[in-house]
Amino acid sequence: MSTQSNLIAPHGGHLINRIASAAEKQEFLEQGDRLPRVQLDERAFSDLVMIAIGGFSPLIGFMGQADYETVVTDMRLTNGTAWAIPVTLSVSEDVADPLKEGSWVRLDDATGRFVGVLELTQKYRYNKAHEAINVYRTDEDKHPGVKVVYDQGPINLAGPVWLLERDPHPLFPTYQIDPAVSRQRFDEQGWQTVVGFQTRNPIHRAHEYIQKCALEIVDGLFLHPLVGATKSDDIPADVRMRCYEIMMEHYFPQDRVILAINPSAMRYAGPREAIFHALIRKNYGCTHFIVGRDHAGVGDYYGTYDAQKIFDEFEPGDLGIQPLKFEHAFYCKKTGQMATAKTSPSGPEDRVHLSGTKVRAMLRDGKLPPAEFSRPEVAAELARAMQI
Ligand code: ADX
Repeated sequence: MSTQSNLIAPHGGHLINRIASAAEKQEFLEQGDRLPRVQLDERAFSDLVMIAIGGFSPLIGFMGQADYETVVTDMRLTNGTAWAIPVTLSVSEDVADPLKEGSWVRLDDATGRFVGVLELTQKYRYNKAHEAINVYRTDEDKHPGVKVVYDQGPINLAGPVWLLERDPHPLFPTYQIDPAVSRQRFDEQGWQTVVGFQTRNPIHRAHEYIQKCALEIVDGLFLHPLVGATKSDDIPADVRMRCYEIMMEHYFPQDRVILAINPSAMRYAGPREAIFHALIRKNYGCTHFIVGRDHAGVGDYYGTYDAQKIFDEFEPGDLGIQPLKFEHAFYCKKTGQMATAKTSPSGPEDRVHLSGTKVRAMLRDGKLPPAEFSRPEVAAELARAMQI
């Protein structure tokens, strides 16, 4: 990675790399059979990967109790660095009991493959309802992020990690662009300013509108769909990625846009997750981050613009990355284009409101999203994938 470039510094100052070198990997593999094992679920594995590749810089492992507590209550690590979402490895008592603080633990993925190691510095209990209320603003287990917290084990294992395996992503190898590489690519393009876009839905016209509005004022656009664990009724990542490939081919300028995957898991934590998402994109080298309506929200747990307002709770220097806030975008029948209330002269009767939720509902009912919602090539791909 270029250190002389004008790229934004990673969160906390430098990009974390916890991918074991060939020699370290060899050493760990030799010890592997003798180490106690912990099996990671999909989310914990993606967190391990994100820590290792620097996507969660400055974290070097799963959070200890002191950082966990200050993150949950104050959105800060103990050293004062802004951080909004706990990154923890939660296990059952049966798993935690035999593990000794100060020892090494072997981390296996869901298939039993030896993928990483944890230097166990601490085991601690935590208060799930307290985490839920503070991070998710609700303790209802209907909330998919809260449900994960309630379903997981009562003990957090903390400590630095090393990742042993960094295979090409099984589905999206060409889009597996780690932060060190995205930074290099931005630098090679000569981009001083880059806007990051988070998404977990198939691209619709409102997404495209706010992406292009943002691109009008910066040098490059980093399309960064999340492909880690999502709730079961979200559209699968491979379908969403194909829609993005179609958009790249037909609707975006090739030299201004980079498409890459974000391997992490959705939390559905709305405002808190918007901060988390922004800091991840800062680590990938973005200077700006798009926050639209109900970012990372679910159901009606959050106000439409809560995920924008939360940025005001930080000093600009705390985050380093600048949010670009967009109002609810819709198709305006009067002017025949996408707009928001800021730019449209029409009344409610001329506004076609769209959202990921609506697109999903239409597809479930066997209906194709109309041209005001989706580009026709994307609608055709969704129809094919959802067998309409
Ligand atoms: S999210 O969970 O990843 O936020 P989604 O993929 O739907 O869900 O949204 C990606 C980004 O686009 C978020 O910043 C969201 O706020 C924004 N967005 C989605 N739909 C609209 C819309 N109609 N108007 C403005 N912003 C939107």
